[in-house]
Amino acid sequence: MRVMESMHLKGVIGRLKESSSERVLRKSFFNRHKAVIVSSVASMCALMMIGAHAAIAATPSVSPASTGSFYAQPFEKQPTVPSLSALGRKLFFDAGLSASGRLACASCHDPAHAYGPPNALVVQLGGADMKLPGVRAVPSLRYLQAVQPFTEHFHEDDGDDGVDQGPAGGHDWDGRADSTHEQAKVPLLSPFEMANADAAAVVAKVRRAAYADEFRNAFGAHLFDDDARAFNAVLWALEVFQQEPAEFYPYSSKYDAVLRGKAKLTEQEARGLQWFNDPRKGNCASCHISTIRQGAFPAFSDFGFLALGVPRNPAIPANRDPNYFDLGLCGPYRTDFLDRSEYCGRFRTPSLRNVATRRVFFHNGMFTSLEQVLQFYVTRDTQAAKWYPRGRDGQPERYNDLPAAVRGNVEVGAPYDRKAGQAPALSDAEIRDVIAFLGTLTDGYQP
Ligand code: HEC
Ligand code: HEC
Repeated sequence: MRVMESMHLKGVIGRLKESSSERVLRKSFFNRHKAVIVSSVASMCALMMIGAHAAIAATPSVSPASTGSFYAQPFEKQPTVPSLSALGRKLFFDAGLSASGRLACASCHDPAHAYGPPNALVVQLGGADMKLPGVRAVPSLRYLQAVQPFTEHFHEDDGDDGVDQGPAGGHDWDGRADSTHEQAKVPLLSPFEMANADAAAVVAKVRRAAYADEFRNAFGAHLFDDDARAFNAVLWALEVFQQEPAEFYPYSSKYDAVLRGKAKLTEQEARGLQWFNDPRKGNCASCHISTIRQGAFPAFSDFGFLALGVPRNPAIPANRDPNYFDLGLCGPYRTDFLDRSEYCGRFRTPSLRNVATRRVFFHNGMFTSLEQVLQFYVTRDTQAAKWYPRGRDGQPERYNDLPAAVRGNVEVGAPYDRKAGQAPALSDAEIRDVIAFLGTLTDGYQP
């Protein structure tokens, strides 16, 4: 398949230049987005609140501007793509790269679960003693090859370049890492994940690893003489491995077979797709793209950023501090938009491929079944008491995972556009149909 080959090549060459035709973002959604940005009134209140939490200082930040020369680094030897991928695979599965000796990338991103979490924990445990909790749910690493580097002003290249569609792209729930090599620094160095003190600590572990000689063969005998250079070799290998098509974008779901004309949806799945696409019903496809665009199979995300008002999850230990808020795009883990209150509460739309294999959903792992997620989508505002605890006035405290000043950022378009007393956008039977359809997005379909 040509699209996949070219995507792979693109990844290997390293996103030196992102081809505009591979961008699959959706204009209508971002136009809506833009209106929200323009109409938002900036408020500093939320930012004072997030400033308080210690985790901010503890989480390595990444600088989106620091990726420019990454692929131009001189190594003694130019590594081949297969050698990079093979090394990346070894690194990815090596628990020896963590301070605890017990945590590999694959511990949280399990290949048996579409490189998502292997368990139902809301946040995973890590750190030197494996007792420190994370702050966000683990995303699947599949179908990220189409994510472009973060941009605050996305312009779709379809002859209408003048329309600013707002923030899109980047890695992590808040888009703060521009590439997977930049992203890999976060888990390697985070005190509550693999907990290495610095790049040199990671390199010291690789130097001792069984595969150290393979690194020397690929990059040159003196690779480990320079910690900074060796660390970049590690990041590059991890990145190239994460672009292996068979592992990370196999397009092997039933839905892909349907797109190829090799399978048919059942009646229930087909109804589910209809509700998924229908702007007056689920309207899901306005953000979770479901059709082939410019030759590319859909990622079931446009990688735009939105605030859905997901309830606060008391199971996240950091949330015990009432002054702590994870606000996504406006911080605290990304730091370039701390003063942009109109961005608070917005998280990057995840791909829904393999979503049926997950056991926790949304950035804060608030829900534990697709049934709950779908019920939330259609009754968030019509039955708020079902989702939010009551405040002092006895009324449900809507959007309680956001400081009051930025609650106006939440999405109010379909399926969130029903008023109290109106029927939800999807009935219980229709929700079952959508869930049946989402099941067709799981890789490894055997006709
Ligand atoms: C302790 C669990 C844990 C470990 C270990 C871990 N990750 Fe993650 N990973 C996460 C979480 C949680 C996120 C979401 C972080 C955020 O949004 O701030 C994430 C996000 C990512 C992303 C971004 C995905 C996206 O949707 O943009 C990539 C890529 C990634 N991890 C790769 C790795 C690699 C490579 C390693 C090993 C070097 C690794 N991870 C180790 C938990 C983990
Ligand atoms: C306006 C854009 C938008 C629409 C419409 C939308 N979503 Fe989402 N979806 C998102 C965003 C953004 C998130 C992540 C929110 C967060 O974690 O705070 C998300 C998360 C999800 C998740 C959790 C995935 C995971 O990995 O945790 C599921 C499941 C989901 N959406 C399904 C749907 C379905 C089904 C519909 C239609 C009923 C729908 N979405 C409509 C933007 C949208």
